[in-house]
Amino acid sequence: MSSEKTNRRDFIGLSFGAVAAVGGLFGLGAMKKTWDPLPSVVAAGFTTVDLSKVVEGELYQVEWRKKPIFILKKSSEMKADDKRDVVVDGVRYTVCIGLCTHLGCIPSYKANAHQFVCACHGGIFDISGNATFGPPPRALDIPPFKIDGTTLVLGETGPEYEKLMANA
Ligand code: FES
Repeated sequence: MSSEKTNRRDFIGLSFGAVAAVGGLFGLGAMKKTWDPLPSVVAAGFTTVDLSKVVEGELYQVEWRKKPIFILKKSSEMKADDKRDVVVDGVRYTVCIGLCTHLGCIPSYKANAHQFVCACHGGIFDISGNATFGPPPRALDIPPFKIDGTTLVLGETGPEYEKLMANA
């Protein structure tokens, strides 16, 4: 009888241990996700993004001074735009503030159409952020940036940004 009680206690103890271990693993997984917001890091008004970790064709969004910034590594099927593309190691990126230039809504990325579409009043921007349809009066704005190796530093003005602004 006493051995049966002991076995039951052991079983309950083991069950709790197993549940705690599984819970702990899930917790660790969630914590790791929180610790790894990479490739972007925010500090003192600057947001740095490791462009080598950005996946081609997928929209990557970071925050810079409370504004959404769109970063898109262009694929070869996407139209190049020498006036707006940020070129790093021969790879073209769209980098722009993700706020519609009409009234400030956040446009959605439509990967298949290679467009950004603003649901508020139907504004459309091409893959480079140029306004192509509807009420937006101009292209999506390009935030000041600097390129440091493969790192994009938002909030600092570098020669690549000045060159784009001169050609805009
Ligand atoms: S706010 Fe985007 S079209 Fe009006």
